[in-house]
Amino acid sequence: MNLISNQTNCLKGEIICPGDKSISQRILILGSLLNCDLIVDGFLDAYDPNSTLNALNKIGASILKKDKKIILSKRKDPFTNPIEELDLGNSGTGARLMLGLLSGLGLNAKLVGDSSLSDRPMLRVVDPLKEMGVSIETNDGKLPIKTLGGKIINCFEYRMPIASAQVKSCLILAAASSNREIKIFEPKITRDHTERMIEYFGGDIKYGDSKNPGAIILKKTNLESRNTYSVVGDFSSASFIIVATLIATNSNVTIKNVGLNKTRSGLIEILLSMGAAIKISNKKIQCNEEVGDIHVSSSELKGVNVPETIIPNIIDEIPILSVAAIFAEGTTTIKNASELKVKESDRLNAITDGLSKLKISHQLFDDGLSIEGCGGEIDTSETINSFDDHRIAMSFLIAGARSKNGIIVRDCKNIETSFPNFTMLMNNLGMCINEKD
Ligand code: S3P
Repeated sequence: MNLISNQTNCLKGEIICPGDKSISQRILILGSLLNCDLIVDGFLDAYDPNSTLNALNKIGASILKKDKKIILSKRKDPFTNPIEELDLGNSGTGARLMLGLLSGLGLNAKLVGDSSLSDRPMLRVVDPLKEMGVSIETNDGKLPIKTLGGKIINCFEYRMPIASAQVKSCLILAAASSNREIKIFEPKITRDHTERMIEYFGGDIKYGDSKNPGAIILKKTNLESRNTYSVVGDFSSASFIIVATLIATNSNVTIKNVGLNKTRSGLIEILLSMGAAIKISNKKIQCNEEVGDIHVSSSELKGVNVPETIIPNIIDEIPILSVAAIFAEGTTTIKNASELKVKESDRLNAITDGLSKLKISHQLFDDGLSIEGCGGEIDTSETINSFDDHRIAMSFLIAGARSKNGIIVRDCKNIETSFPNFTMLMNNLGMCINEKD
């Protein structure tokens, strides 16, 4: 499915942010492990969380979708080896976190995924899981992967070579599901939804101090059941609406119930330093996650150097930050972001390919890029390649808001992995996105 996004005069309105993808996946996994009756609202009903849901039901979880809610029921039987293979579709989070759970439970299972997921590196979780005592077979470090059980050692210590919340969460889930302690050191702070959720259910997690920087220690604890869980809105989805409003003229939008966890919302800090008019209200804590409303207005942006330490906290927002940079005055530089090469697509390549088609002057580095703002509107007749990547597709569609003759983006179906009603919601605010042959 190809989409065209045409120029818009103004974006106005108030919307409720769709549920967080990372948290939706985690509550399915942790909720199944808790084995209690639990009702989840705010769940993101999109391809990625649904692949995780189906995989969990195949190992004996009891998860139902009903009236926009997720109903987890207490299992009568223990988890079981799945008869069929577990298809995690496009979801790196689903695959890596499920590998942790399956390993901790000692199950024999085969994980598969679509062509993008089958090309993503899995040794980052498989190697430490093997060190923990799990038997795993991979296809040269990639999917399909078979977990073959094994005894998880207690008090495993691991220094993560890369900053990855998926690796951290995989190992924490392996320890939690085998009732073992674990100590992990992360090189930079990454999203901490798994830790916060475990704490919400009464788990005991300790964090490093100046003598032990980056340490996360999961102690042995019996997690307590709760009846309900509310998923906060997805900051990554909100970021498309934020940037669209900033770059469009005469625009004013409020996004309600957005997750504001500091390990996720680094883009706000960057956009503020670029001169964005963003205000936050109604801040509160919901299920151990910070949440609030974001008010955005059109702004004249200026280019910035993005600090290195914030990269893990804006990793999924770099495509849309690149679009903001197109319309900023001056240069925006992003470095230390080579992880972008192993996302749903090689995002550094996908961004640079799109920028070239928009005739935006930029420089590609091995670990990032710098973008010269064009100040005005985009004028191109070339079609943008989404590389079948949801965040690339949505980012370049947002750029269409300030284009002379619209921007066509090819293969946009993948948007459904994270933001199924993106087009409708953006058009309700005043964007003009339509199907194109
Ligand atoms: C995610 C972590 C990030 C992010 C991904 C979701 C998660 O990946 O890019 O979209 O839910 O833990 P890494 O942790 O591999 O950087």
